[in-house]
Amino acid sequence: MSHAVLFVCLGNICRSPLAEGVFRAIVDEAGLADRFAIDSAGTGAWHVGNPPDPRSIEIAAKHGIDISGQRARQVEARDFERFDTILAMDHNNLSSMKPMARHGTATVRLFLNAPAQDVPDPYYGGPDGFEDVYQLVRAGGQKLLDDLT
Ligand code: 4NP
Repeated sequence: MSHAVLFVCLGNICRSPLAEGVFRAIVDEAGLADRFAIDSAGTGAWHVGNPPDPRSIEIAAKHGIDISGQRARQVEARDFERFDTILAMDHNNLSSMKPMARHGTATVRLFLNAPAQDVPDPYYGGPDGFEDVYQLVRAGGQKLLDDLT
């Protein structure tokens, strides 16, 4: 049986698309692609239908990962039934999902939870922020795979 994982940030154009792409690469490298269903979404609707931020596409490409085909969507109530694990990039994203999460079966938690840490929103900052996000989701993704297998 496959494990369905959803990464959630605010816009679904910067952090969670990178987390989705990096976790997919980690799972592929481990030969475990058939054991996972992987997706991402945003708590906000501003960017629905848009590709990831060019800076996220660029940092992923620099590390050999193509996320350019992703399109943003907003998290919805049925996600909390369809996904086994829903991972918030920061505490605000986690709080925003609480009302919907109450009625679902999914485990909903902070992505980086030991110790609890936000993946900082890089949207209004410089390019260094995107490399920081990449390093955080790479380390967190590896730990997630260890936790789930
Ligand atoms: P993300 O970054 O949540 O990592 O996708 C953001 C993208 C867009 C906005 C905020 C954060 N925005 O305000 O439009």
